[in-house]
Amino acid sequence: MRIDILTLFPEMFQKVFDESIIKRAIQLGKVDIHIVNIRDYTKDVHNKVDDTVYGGGAGMVLMCQPIFDCIRDIKTENSKVIMLTPSGKVYQQKMAYDLSLEKHLILLCGHYEGFDERIKSICDMELSIGDYVLTGGEIPAMVIVDSITRLLPGVITDESHINDSFHNQLLDYPVYTKPRVFEGMEVPEVLLSGDHKKIEEYREKEMHRLTQENRPDLLDK
Ligand code: ADE
Repeated sequence: MRIDILTLFPEMFQKVFDESIIKRAIQLGKVDIHIVNIRDYTKDVHNKVDDTVYGGGAGMVLMCQPIFDCIRDIKTENSKVIMLTPSGKVYQQKMAYDLSLEKHLILLCGHYEGFDERIKSICDMELSIGDYVLTGGEIPAMVIVDSITRLLPGVITDESHINDSFHNQLLDYPVYTKPRVFEGMEVPEVLLSGDHKKIEEYREKEMHRLTQENRPDLLDK
């Protein structure tokens, strides 16, 4: 999969993509990530990419010209263009699965007050990573790249996905490692029993208990 990230702050990404599983996925050739500076596409003599709001209001708005030119330069018939904005549809694990099947994603990061509304016409979807407002789309782009990369075949074991929280609308079961007792807190006896059927039943029950406790909305779905 190829991912292009369109941003005004290209340096924010280097460190994040040069660690852990994303780094390995890049080295294995599972994902090819390109960071594109939107400012490189401005035709303005002063390198401007934003301007004031028509009708009045605070802040600056990203202009059409550099973003249209940038997307048109990069887009192919296999591309899915995603605008990152707090007013988009809320990103969910199911969308991560769907997007992981695409050949090419273009992630458009906003900043300041937002995008000129006409930029939506060149995008396929608008996504938000949650009901809060960030200073820009860069961190949401990192979230989306991370959640998709780990789903690409051969990046982590398939079993890890099956156990993911949200895989079946339930949160993941709790896990423990050594030691058996830490500061008086014990690992549940059943996990030491070696009885796989009992362990499975215990984990299933825990998934329901945890979901009921932390995310009852998932059980209503
Ligand atoms: N830009 C600012 N806030 C955002 C959010 N919550 N999701 C996606 N993009 C954003």
